[in-house]
Amino acid sequence: MTPLEELKAKASACRACRLAEGRTQVVFSRGNPEARLMFVGEAPGADEDRQGLPFVGKAGQLLDRILEAAGIDPNDVYITNVVKCRPPGNRTPLPDEVKICTQLWLLPEIEIVRPLIIVPLGSVATQFFLGQKVPITRVRGQWFEWNGIKVFPMFHPAYLLRNPSRAPGSPKALTWKDIQEVKRVLDELGEKQRPEVKAARQDPLF
Ligand code: URA
Repeated sequence: MTPLEELKAKASACRACRLAEGRTQVVFSRGNPEARLMFVGEAPGADEDRQGLPFVGKAGQLLDRILEAAGIDPNDVYITNVVKCRPPGNRTPLPDEVKICTQLWLLPEIEIVRPLIIVPLGSVATQFFLGQKVPITRVRGQWFEWNGIKVFPMFHPAYLLRNPSRAPGSPKALTWKDIQEVKRVLDELGEKQRPEVKAARQDPLF
């Protein structure tokens, strides 16, 4: 087994927080484990919980279409979530659930994949990487840095489904601009050396 497969196997038996009670299965990731570009969503929804893969429902299909439109192969990116189990009724994951799940699974996952670019989708993932609560409307489409990795927050595709207008300045129009910027920088970086990622563990428990 590869280190990523080992991590995924361990995660599949996780009962570290209350989300274990309501899930059908742990939803770990999909895509290319060697990808230079990683997308991080919030949490699995009902479709993902049923199929065991992230972003396979309506929001995921929209994400794939956005990638294809920008000339990015959806099979050549790595897609994961901040928390790996579906919160009951699709509620927002609670701060302790985010903390436990990211310490146990997301940080080691990023350390193994070592992407050049991480795109947090929506405010929960963005808050994790920026380390503070900020409106997504204020930070999307801007470059940040996290442990040597470029971070570029974008709107969550579920938000785009609720806001279908393509008018100038609309979330969809801004997202189209954003994904083209991601593609531009990805091409510019080429096969640049991967960062050695060692994210700080915050909790003495781990
Ligand atoms: N929304 C997310 O944030 N993640 C998924 O996997 C599906 C929908």
